[in-house]
Amino acid sequence: MMTRRSFLAGAVAAPLCRRARAQTRQNEKVLIEPAAEIGVIRPELHGHFAEHLGTCIYGGLWVGRNSPIPNINGHRKQAVEWLRALGIPVLRWPGGCFADDYHWRDGIGPVEKRPKRVNIHWGNYVEDNSFGTHEFIELCRLIGAEPYIAGNVGSGTPQEMRDWVEYCNYSSGSTLSDERAANGSPEPFRVRYWGVGNENWGCGGNMTPEEYAAHYRRFSTYLRDFGDTRLFLIACGPGGNNLEWTRRFMEAMPRRVRIHGYAMHYYSRGRDHAQRFTVESLRAQLATFWDLEKAILEQRALLDKYDKDRRIGLLVDEWGVWDRIDPEEEKRYGRLFQQITMRSALAAALGLNVFHRQADKLVMGNLAQTVNVLHALLLADGPRCVRTTTYYTFELMKPHRGATAVRAQTPEAPPPTLSVAASRRQDEIIVTLVNPRHDTTTEVECTMSRGAAGNARARILHHPDFNAANTFESPDLIVPRDHPVTAAGGSLRVELPPLAIVTVQARLSGV
Ligand code: AHR
Repeated sequence: MMTRRSFLAGAVAAPLCRRARAQTRQNEKVLIEPAAEIGVIRPELHGHFAEHLGTCIYGGLWVGRNSPIPNINGHRKQAVEWLRALGIPVLRWPGGCFADDYHWRDGIGPVEKRPKRVNIHWGNYVEDNSFGTHEFIELCRLIGAEPYIAGNVGSGTPQEMRDWVEYCNYSSGSTLSDERAANGSPEPFRVRYWGVGNENWGCGGNMTPEEYAAHYRRFSTYLRDFGDTRLFLIACGPGGNNLEWTRRFMEAMPRRVRIHGYAMHYYSRGRDHAQRFTVESLRAQLATFWDLEKAILEQRALLDKYDKDRRIGLLVDEWGVWDRIDPEEEKRYGRLFQQITMRSALAAALGLNVFHRQADKLVMGNLAQTVNVLHALLLADGPRCVRTTTYYTFELMKPHRGATAVRAQTPEAPPPTLSVAASRRQDEIIVTLVNPRHDTTTEVECTMSRGAAGNARARILHHPDFNAANTFESPDLIVPRDHPVTAAGGSLRVELPPLAIVTVQARLSGV
């Protein structure tokens, strides 16, 4: 959690204009400490997730080789181009709940021979398995993402998962690696990230922590490194901030068992349909990001008790907004489709600011999900495809990747209030400010505790209506723009209109 200083608590709110529906202005002071390093912001904190759910894969990322929609070997060309431009560091697949009912052999070999299976988690519709392991790896290569595969623990066996690892990673000469070569990929896929099940307290088998721990021990025993590919094995963590799950799982886990990552899931539920939020439901949803930060701190602190040298990295493996789903929209666009609005952008920015402030406690964060499902980056329908406000939020946050998070102190105020995260790369300081208030323009002064900031530039994502969205009809309604920022006397001054995300980049001198 951020530390606060009383001298910063000088926010001054004053009525701006009676006619402008209680619009107020306020001044906020932020103290940035370029030398107070938190940790490197791993690019993987900007990771993503694509499940066989609704139209995320089929009809979204994957349109098929014979589609009239422009494609690269079946992958939607527009999606590939935009995701590559964003530079997704890691992509998790095939689920989600789907993972624990997926049998990887269904998705390899000649497409016409692949079995048709019922997707029991997401509506009992039939999938033809034309998108399988080879197609997933090809997609990752096309967009430049590191593949992350979630294995099947709930309805699978240790042998099935062990064979999948060998199929992907063994170089050549074994029956499985030769089968991979015969299927068109002589080079091993070198998949490092493997999830050992998903939500095994729920859709992944309804297990107790002790039962899951026993499964984890057994499965992980047979998952091996091949060649120079060192596996990063990820255990199923809690839903939300369930400390009981973590405590009991860790109690049941001998230290000698390999666990490299521990995956918590944290969704921010919305009471309303995505484009019918009220001020109250907006505030309630955005306030959950302060709870997310508390959850990360508490989960990490509990893990630390069992894992003093932090062998195990904490992941927020699924996160994002999950609004009230409209059944008509679901019918039209697929399960868990929701529109992505200015509110969704603010939510994504608040989440990423949390990850950056807690960069020393997290190794990965995967937003749910990439296309057409929940907090999507892209929406697609037939040949149409749009970049959502979520996409642009990740674009605004990109300069933080690989930089070192540094402390930024903000005034004490009840959430949702101004959110700040800062990072530093050599003599550059990067600050992202989020104004989640719908009625308050905020003039922010960022003072450096050491040195001076100059040569500043800023980009903003903003719309005065929190229910506004980039739709198929108006795809470019909300896009990032240059924004005025001044650097005077070593401080940065920037004005945030209501509902705005601003990233400032400036040169630091004299630190
Ligand atoms: O992202 C949608 C679903 O949410 C995933 O399948 C599951 O893991 C979670 O409950």
